[in-house]
Amino acid sequence: MIESTYLSDTRSGYDAIAPSYAETFRSELDDSPLDRAMLAGFAELVSDRHPDGRLIEVGSGPGHVAAYLQSLGMSIRGIDLSAAMVDLARREYPDVTFDVGEMGALDAADDSLAGLVAWYSIIHVPPAHLPPVFTEFHRVLATGGHLLVAFQVGDDVVHHDEAFGHQVSLDFRRLQPSAVAALLDEAGFDLTAELVRAPTPASAATKIPQACLIACKRP
Ligand SMILES: C[S@@+](CC[C@H](N)C(=O)[O-])C[C@H]1O[C@@H](n2cnc3c(N)ncnc32)[C@H](O)[C@@H]1O
Repeated sequence: MIESTYLSDTRSGYDAIAPSYAETFRSELDDSPLDRAMLAGFAELVSDRHPDGRLIEVGSGPGHVAAYLQSLGMSIRGIDLSAAMVDLARREYPDVTFDVGEMGALDAADDSLAGLVAWYSIIHVPPAHLPPVFTEFHRVLATGGHLLVAFQVGDDVVHHDEAFGHQVSLDFRRLQPSAVAALLDEAGFDLTAELVRAPTPASAATKIPQACLIACKRP
């Protein structure tokens, strides 16, 4: 099967920048009480509904979000398109499981997961591919399972030919929370919570508003 160009570009881009990306973002949660609050609330919702249930994080990158959720008692596995990111996450967090994988074709059985996290990873999915990706999330989640998605808010696509001194071809797609919520509804999810953080000048990454949605798979 021929792979979509966006997947090969995203994989090779993150393979190239993995160490620099990890260096920049591995401590981001330390300075973000609202992110920690959303992740903690999500963890509680997941375990209330499915105690001892399993979770995956798709696009786990350097692994710090999966490690944070594991520190809250969650049984989580990170998956990422980029083997370099997976190697790095395994080295940094040897107690957490990380595997190479693609969020649109997950190696998980139907209805098998209590929770799924996509933390700034759907930002690389072209609009036409988002509905099938959300359908895949719906397939692997158990009824009542929770999904958390985080992304930058906006309407534009920021293309990078260069990142951290490496040649890449990466598209960063900003999204509107209402549009993401509508797609989640179409895929069979009810919206549970929506947080939109105002922009802060603290870092380049937070200069634009950030959204975090939690949704639940409908019976
Ligand atoms: C912006 S980074 C976010 C990483 C991490 N969640 C964080 O917040 O630092 C996006 C990550 O998603 C991964 N990714 C992008 N598209 C993916 C896909 N279709 N399947 C799996 N991983 C993907 C990339 O390789 C990259 O590691």
